[in-house]
Amino acid sequence: MSDAVGGAATGEPSRDTVGPGWSTPSRLFHWTVAALVLVTVPVGVAMTSEGFDGVRNTLYVSHKGIGVVLLVLVTFRAVWRWLTPAPKLPASIPEGEQRLARFTHRLLYVLLFVMALSGYLRTVGGGYPIELLDALGVPPLVGEMPVWADRLSVLHAFVAYLLVATVAVHVAVVVQHTLFGRTNLLSRMWPPFRSGRS
Ligand code: HEM
Repeated sequence: MSDAVGGAATGEPSRDTVGPGWSTPSRLFHWTVAALVLVTVPVGVAMTSEGFDGVRNTLYVSHKGIGVVLLVLVTFRAVWRWLTPAPKLPASIPEGEQRLARFTHRLLYVLLFVMALSGYLRTVGGGYPIELLDALGVPPLVGEMPVWADRLSVLHAFVAYLLVATVAVHVAVVVQHTLFGRTNLLSRMWPPFRSGRS
């Protein structure tokens, strides 16, 4: 699908130019985090639901392992995002929508970080192991705090809903513009390696 301006001569609606989009490191961060979240959310839901007794332990170990990888990745990603300028959205996207997009992106960073940190603190604070960190020889960074561990457990489950809802809005906007609008927004982030000079 071309994202160049044109198409009037063929009778097709014209498409806006979106520029080179995000850099390769930003794209790799984006799709790695997206894939891990896509795995860890259903694993988190399954391990806390009935009917998974045979694999519950494996699910917990996997969820906690992917979760701490996400904690590190999301932290690095936020620093990278702060250090590097974001490519401008096409001027054809109304200013109100651009502001909403910036808000949604910031919210995603915050929710992901709160998810990962609350999961870590809930686990370590409750006196439970994180097998991946144990295998790497990383000691718990905080002591046991059972009351806070319980509160953070509630926060972790609540923020999961907010995260899923925000991701759904984020995906819906990109799909709407890319498939039904004039702007191939997806090409700003896909494929994971930017073609040409990166
Ligand atoms: C962005 C990262 C993360 C996401 C998206 C995520 C997502 C989820 C979800 C959807 C649930 C089920 C909530 C429910 O319905 O009760 C859950 C539960 C849980 N998660 Fe995570 N999680 C993340 C990071 C972590 C980390 C880093 C750890 C620990 C190392 C962790 C440990 C747990 C534990 C122990 C539970 C069971 C519920 C509880 O007792 O607190 N999570 N997570």
